[in-house]
Amino acid sequence: MATKQGMELVDRDERGVDRAFRRDVLAGLAQPDKAIPARWLYDDAGSQLFEDITQVAEYYPTRAETEILNTRGPEFAAAMGKGRAVVEFGSGSSVKTPLLLRAIDPAAYVPLDIAGDFLRAAAEDLAQGFPDLPIFPVEGDFTRTVHLPQPAKTLPKLGFFPGSTIGNMVPRTAVDLLRSMRDTLSADDAQDAATAAARPMLLIGMDLVKDVSVLEAAYDDAAGVTGAFNLNLARRINRELGGDIPLDALRHEARWNDDFARIEMHLRTTRDITFTVSGETFSMREGESIHTENSHKFTRRSSYALLQAGGWTPTCRWTDGEKRFSVILAEASVLRSAP
Ligand code: TRP
Repeated sequence: MATKQGMELVDRDERGVDRAFRRDVLAGLAQPDKAIPARWLYDDAGSQLFEDITQVAEYYPTRAETEILNTRGPEFAAAMGKGRAVVEFGSGSSVKTPLLLRAIDPAAYVPLDIAGDFLRAAAEDLAQGFPDLPIFPVEGDFTRTVHLPQPAKTLPKLGFFPGSTIGNMVPRTAVDLLRSMRDTLSADDAQDAATAAARPMLLIGMDLVKDVSVLEAAYDDAAGVTGAFNLNLARRINRELGGDIPLDALRHEARWNDDFARIEMHLRTTRDITFTVSGETFSMREGESIHTENSHKFTRRSSYALLQAGGWTPTCRWTDGEKRFSVILAEASVLRSAP
């Protein structure tokens, strides 16, 4: 496996503080409606807690999506064809990937992730089960166009984006991402790029709108794992940015926003607090919150509208037995004259 060892993508100051983290936190806390970009939830502790979330009883999305990937293999093979290069966006340590790879027998696998160590470890694990599959891990930020390594470049491509991660973005950002995925997968040197067989495809998981009680429980489990995941952000701020946020004055909240069809996670104060982060002072009144994450839920139509806005035409759709979760296959839209 050829990867760049020890490449440092994080920009740190002379004291080792991640500059982007500090900038985002200070800017987010300075707003009247406080919010911090969700990506900062995922330090090592956060990533581990997130793995734990996927195991809690109330958190159905992982099980529902896995059921689909487990049972629809033959239909996937028929719809996608063999011999594609599978490009997984934000590969993580997924157990879902082998299910897809077994189903469609690809010619190459390109896991793409910003966390290099995680990426290489996951690629090595996967290689055990697929000794004959060429694997080309790429360390990079998939929100921008990524240049794929050569053998994958000339193959017809299938993007894979499971987990309803697209739902963690607001529509505008989600559309930007779908478009850059399209650019990444539309390498200009792909042979026969214009023919239908070679057109890039995307297999994407999108969670569905359902009973509010089921949704809220999934993001506020009784054992408190999701709460710990959310609070870990404040802990990280205190540790990495020299903060003194009183953790005992924050409680995890997951609530359904019906206007935007999303679960919102907040850290809500239980009393008035004043604290400092990186030498700057902030105050919050009792009941104010820091917004830390969104998880948008979709209907069939809203998922299709989002994909189309991002340059993808849906061609197949699967749901689990209880219709909780959807997996959609789309192909890169062709611009043609149409009303
Ligand atoms: N994309 C998944 C979801 O929204 C996973 C996820 C992202 C998540 N952030 C989360 C799950 C925070 C629980 C809490 O469900």
